[in-house]
Amino acid sequence: MELEPKMTRAGGIKVSYYDLGENSGLPIIFIHGFPFSKSLWKGQLTYFSKTHRVIAYDVRGHGATEPGEREFTMEQFAKDLFRFMNKLGIERAVLCGMSMGGYIALSGLLEQPDRIASLVLCCTQCKEDTPEAKKKRFDAIHDIRINGLEDYAHQAVQRLFSDSSLADKREEVFFIDKMIKETNVETVCNTLIAMANRVETCSTLYLVDIPVLFIAGEEDKIITLDTMRQMHESMPHSILRIVKGAGHMCNLESPTVFNRYVEEFLKDQSDQGATERGEE
Ligand code: MLT
Repeated sequence: MELEPKMTRAGGIKVSYYDLGENSGLPIIFIHGFPFSKSLWKGQLTYFSKTHRVIAYDVRGHGATEPGEREFTMEQFAKDLFRFMNKLGIERAVLCGMSMGGYIALSGLLEQPDRIASLVLCCTQCKEDTPEAKKKRFDAIHDIRINGLEDYAHQAVQRLFSDSSLADKREEVFFIDKMIKETNVETVCNTLIAMANRVETCSTLYLVDIPVLFIAGEEDKIITLDTMRQMHESMPHSILRIVKGAGHMCNLESPTVFNRYVEEFLKDQSDQGATERGEE
């Protein structure tokens, strides 16, 4: 199914997004990881648009969204999200963030918690970068500035997919390799800096009192299952689901399982809402 992108102006930049499905319930907003775009979510948008209003947008500088003049930080990306929601007339939504999308959602939760009804956090973490991780990001920037994105993309996909997906899911691997290479070089470098500078959000997780679903790729080489398990254990209202055989790109590697986990989570929320309203 070919999706028709839309464009709006929010927070001083043009933002490109998909907006599908109609439902009076809460919309689901999907936030992609790094360095991807809204197209990462096509398998979810097509599926959930049958029952929900679903939105996926390009984060500042990524895909077809303008970089603007402001410094890239997770806090800025979260502010951008709320301005985008304002522009679309959305007061509250379910957020689904993958990896960096999760960093943005967690930063948003600190900034405007009332606007997030529930959270799906996939292959993400609350920790800040270790000194080694920061160094890797700055080495990557140095390399990209000299050699461009060809090698960077090639190396990234080896870590983004599980070994079995690398062998069996050639189309998905090609799709991500191409998406990385098409990302603006300045955006890649500025976002690497933003991630290196991000602050931890682990110390605030115990305060989160909305429903949270964690989805981990069993074979994620970037954010391990253990890291996700620790987050889940420190969040009182959370559920952890594991996508077997998948790596970091679990929504793309196993969309059927991923969609089922999200669907069950959303159904639990609406059943709970109905019980609270005293419905049968
Ligand atoms: C992502 O997928 O968004 C990145 O791998 C996150 C990161 O590098 O920390």
